Amino acid sequence: MRQVSIIGAGMTKFGEHWEKSLRDLVTEAAVKAVADAKLDGGEIEAIYGGCMAPGLFAGQEHVGALIADQLGMNPIPSTRVEAACASGGLALRNAYLAIASGAYDIVAVGGVEKMTEVTTEQTGVILGGAGDQEWELFMGATFPALYALMAKRHMHDYGTTEEQMAACSVKNHANAVHNPYAQFQRAITIDDVMKSGYVADPLKLLDCSPITDGASAVILCATEKARKYTDLPISILASSQASDTLALAHRGSLTEIRATKVAGEKALKQAGLSQKDIQAAEVHDCFSIAEVMAIEDLGFFKKGTGGKVSANGETALNSKLSINPSGGLKACGHPVGATGVKQAVEATVQLRGEAGKRQVSNLKNFMTHNVGGSGATVAVHLFARGD
Ligand code: COA
Repeated sequence: MRQVSIIGAGMTKFGEHWEKSLRDLVTEAAVKAVADAKLDGGEIEAIYGGCMAPGLFAGQEHVGALIADQLGMNPIPSTRVEAACASGGLALRNAYLAIASGAYDIVAVGGVEKMTEVTTEQTGVILGGAGDQEWELFMGATFPALYALMAKRHMHDYGTTEEQMAACSVKNHANAVHNPYAQFQRAITIDDVMKSGYVADPLKLLDCSPITDGASAVILCATEKARKYTDLPISILASSQASDTLALAHRGSLTEIRATKVAGEKALKQAGLSQKDIQAAEVHDCFSIAEVMAIEDLGFFKKGTGGKVSANGETALNSKLSINPSGGLKACGHPVGATGVKQAVEATVQLRGEAGKRQVSNLKNFMTHNVGGSGATVAVHLFARGD
């Protein structure tokens, strides 16, 4: 297998983009990434694009072809990758594997979702399709409800409190204040979270990631050729993926995401690293409890202590481990198909030392963790500066 590097990265601002279509969002992110890689576009041999539900959100299917068409890149192969909220992470992984195998030297990876064309109720049903339609959504269990079940069980088993979960949201909003691409560039307090309305007990509005439009893109290149385009390539040290049951009821535990544990361990093994070698991670905080479980399941903190360490400030920017320096899904926003690629954009910006006031200091190795649905698909990637 060949080594793979990122040579360019770009994204749109995440938020409500009434004035921009799916095509506009894709174009903006792709043009930024291609320019960042100092390419003219003709060098790109293939495209992989993560997108969860363009037909249901925006009436547009066949998004792989749309991306190549819109960018004027026909006739190169262009493939849409779907794995619910992990669509972007899997697009990245498929592009990584294509270069590692020797099939291509330069590949563009995109992620996009245009979610605000439909009502919140419709969004809940569309996203609910990423769970088990028959056993969960049909019975009324939307995503906030599924993660609320996990939160209740975590609280029961480990004494995790609503205030401890709220601390994840407060920290992520604090980081997003310094991210010009974030949907919510505003700080919040524990009190704000506790006083926000319940969406699904115990999760309140400010425990939830929002509904977001946005796109993100990175350009991957075989490491042996990366220096031709950039003085500062970002190495992809590892790429892993794991699967689990769609329905929560079919799992052995409600307080862990087994696919996260498996994918996290595989990635660290591939890179020859351990948790103590990682200084920062973008983890999939679609709900505050999801961040609590992620930092436990990735092995950074002991099971059951994720809430406590978050409340103690151990995951704040430049503390013990910088979690979600971008603001995470909670505050940077969560255009579902774009999130996994946006995490790679943040890894690139951070490892280049270009993150400004949200810069993680003494950064060597960066992890990204992207979850599809309630944990049926997980992708983990590890990145480092240089080649
Ligand atoms: N965090 C912070 N503020 C939020 C927010 C969030 N998650 N969602 C909405 N807001 C804000 C809006 O900006 C708006 O503020 P304003 O009045 O100052 O303009 C206000 O709250 C009301 O927004 P609205 O769009 O009416 O919210 P909503 O009730 O339609 O949606 C949720 C709120 C929580 C239901 C929706 O964001 C949601 O479904 N989130 C979860 C998405 C999800 O499941 N993703 C997949 C995870 S696997």
